[in-house]
Amino acid sequence: MSPTALHAVRRRVLRGDDPAISVVDPRDDDETALHVAGLLGERLVVTSSYYPSTSPVHPERVTYQLRYMATDFDVQGRGYGARVAEAAEAILRERGVEEIWANGRDTALGFYRATGWRTVPGSEHLSPETQLPHTVIYKSLLDDADLS
Ligand SMILES: CC(C)(COP(=O)(O)OP(=O)(O)OC[C@H]1O[C@@H](n2cnc3c(N)ncnc32)[C@H](O)[C@@H]1OP(=O)(O)O)[C@@H](O)C(=O)NCCC(=O)NCCS
Repeated sequence: MSPTALHAVRRRVLRGDDPAISVVDPRDDDETALHVAGLLGERLVVTSSYYPSTSPVHPERVTYQLRYMATDFDVQGRGYGARVAEAAEAILRERGVEEIWANGRDTALGFYRATGWRTVPGSEHLSPETQLPHTVIYKSLLDDADLS
């Protein structure tokens, strides 16, 4: 999946469709980045991108950061975001990733909680990019038996 294919949905859903705002992460073209999209026929409707990144929650673990999680407006609430996340997490597990983290938009925390993420108390902040309220969130990809 080429990261540029994701730009339209990233921009429309997360940046108010403003053509002047960048929807590029400097790590997008890194070989280690993982971009997982959801397609309805030929239409790309879900975006998600994961980058190797030391977690502020568990820096000792092998962790990736999730950015640009978005489902296009007219197809939200149909389970597509959760299905794409599940597929991405399976790939990350195969890569040996132990945990994922993100700066979760507060309006999306219901989605993250429903899909197994936890919030970090006291980590509430405004995103420097959007000025919208966010909270640091994380999700273990380990089986319970692997956790000490
Ligand atoms: C957040 C977002 C990615 C969720 O994608 P989606 O495809 O609509 O979510 P799904 O339909 O797969 O929902 C999965 C679960 O999360 C719940 N959920 C989804 N969005 C929710 C919300 N905003 N508040 C509460 N619960 C929510 C669903 O009810 C469902 O729960 P269930 O399994 O118990 O039925 C999507 O709404 C979106 O793009 N929002 C705007 C952009 C955004 O805020 N992205 C996150 C940036 S950090």
